[in-house]
Amino acid sequence: MSKTFPYAYIRKKMTPIAKAQVPIMCKAVQYGLGVFSGIRGHWNAKDKNLYLFRPEDHFRRLEEAAKITGMKLNLSYPKFLEIITKLIKKNKAKEDVYLRPTLYAASTKLTPRFDNTDDDLAIYMISLKDYFSSSDGLNVCVSSWRRFDDDAISSKAKITGAYCNSALAKTEAINNGYDEAIFLNRDGNVCEASGANIFGIKNGEVWTPPLSANNLNGITRRSIIELFKNEHDLKVREENFDRSMLYTFDELFFTGTAAKVTAITSVDQRKIGTGKAGKTTKKLINIFTKITNGELEEYKKWLTPIY
Ligand SMILES: Cc1ncc(COP(=O)(O)O)c(C=O)c1O
Repeated sequence: MSKTFPYAYIRKKMTPIAKAQVPIMCKAVQYGLGVFSGIRGHWNAKDKNLYLFRPEDHFRRLEEAAKITGMKLNLSYPKFLEIITKLIKKNKAKEDVYLRPTLYAASTKLTPRFDNTDDDLAIYMISLKDYFSSSDGLNVCVSSWRRFDDDAISSKAKITGAYCNSALAKTEAINNGYDEAIFLNRDGNVCEASGANIFGIKNGEVWTPPLSANNLNGITRRSIIELFKNEHDLKVREENFDRSMLYTFDELFFTGTAAKVTAITSVDQRKIGTGKAGKTTKKLINIFTKITNGELEEYKKWLTPIY
């Protein structure tokens, strides 16, 4: 179970979580107008430090999301990091955490329009270990819901309202007894999951859908692509693949801030590989855990210590 930390940041102040509220009339509630980010921090007991994973990359994506939607962030990265550091210290966090910064439209005007009259950055924190109910391997399905096209709602910005698409797919998957859903896009190619990117391994080659597939430009995704290059001298094939190919991979796994690296062991009741987490996937989980915990010197470049 995850716990919520007692303080959040809202309206430029550290505020007790119970008082960190938005009005029912605001555009964030009425129309889902907001862009958000999710950042993990891992507690290293030996170093007595909390390491944030690639916070500047998360900030840059939030900044781009604000630009795409036309929202006003009005904040530099150093100031963002200062606020996050202050919040973590105020909450005395010495465990694994997940931070959720959201730039939301607080304007209460009636029209669904990004009018910037009151865009505000709010951040709350929870403790978070595993996001999925099983870390051994997931039984997933292909969703009957399609991923929206980038020219309908930007897939490169984490837009709060756009997660209705994810919620429809995830709810359907859970109701049908699966752990997660995989979206196809309008072209019929594999896109991503409700909140994670996807990779497949077949005949020693690693595949992931390209960024033109209407998926999110995942920060974990790009870290994994770099890891394959550095650790295995393997160039990941960022290419489209269809549903048939999805079923025939030797290994499949999701990547994401919440999802970390999680093996997929079946899709639509078809076993992937042996039906257990694959060898390469297991190795990747192992190295990625060490990296995020701050145990590998050469990857400390991805970490920002808080204490
Ligand atoms: C739809 C979607 N795709 C992919 C991801 C993975 O992105 P990242 O690795 O940056 O967390 C996320 C999570 O943020 C997501 O919500």
